[in-house]
Amino acid sequence: MIIALANQKGGVGKTTLALHLAGTWARQGKRVTLIDADPQGWALDWSQQRAREGLSRLFGVVGLARDTLHREAPEIARDADHVVIDGPPRIAGLMRSALLAADLVLLPVQPSPLDGWASAEMLALLREARIYRPQLAARFILNRCATRTVIARETAETLADHEPPVLATTVGQRVVFADAAQTGRLAFEIDEASPAAREIVALAAEIDRLRIGRIAA
Ligand SMILES: Nc1ncnc2c1ncn2[C@@H]1O[C@H](COP(=O)(O)OP(=O)(O)O)[C@@H](O)[C@H]1O
Ligand SMILES: [Mg+2]
Repeated sequence: MIIALANQKGGVGKTTLALHLAGTWARQGKRVTLIDADPQGWALDWSQQRAREGLSRLFGVVGLARDTLHREAPEIARDADHVVIDGPPRIAGLMRSALLAADLVLLPVQPSPLDGWASAEMLALLREARIYRPQLAARFILNRCATRTVIARETAETLADHEPPVLATTVGQRVVFADAAQTGRLAFEIDEASPAAREIVALAAEIDRLRIGRIAA
């Protein structure tokens, strides 16, 4: 399965969630490759930081911030159980290529009543990708949720109606993610029992349950 974290907004958690999903599946013994499709290369930096700290590799990270990504990804996917693409901000050509490469697009959004969850442009790119790949699945993932009550209130009326649909698992505002980013670690390596670690495991499990990329019986 190829999963792309995509949203044209920066700072919504694409890189954080891409690294943590890749790490969770790798820890379960799956063969995982992360494609860094952001020209700024944060995921690559993270893996280099990790190597400098002498930590185990967990999964490979390759830099592929070019719009031939969708042609190169299948080759990478052949030798992997999961490929996770850390998507680019605000570059339409790269975004198109990342969407065309994916079986599942995850759109991290910070829930806010003042904010459309995805820009009209992002949704248009998704519709466009589905012309070529009608089976392309997409889900919103609510990240940096301040409290469950805020989400519950806000989503009561709106969650069910969303297209793309919203994953049931939400990820809270957790300081440990920032510590992880700075030290080449993952949240569960800093604190296995942290809410952040639990949320990521639940998120990976919910994605697994979607059974995307399998041939229907
Ligand atoms: N759930 C979260 N809780 C706290 N900080 C977060 C969370 N998700 C992301 N961050 C922090 O927000 C910043 C931007 O996140 P990042 O994953 O780099 O976003 P993007 O890749 O979409 O630009 C980083 O400093 C990251 O550590
Ligand atoms: Mg990023």
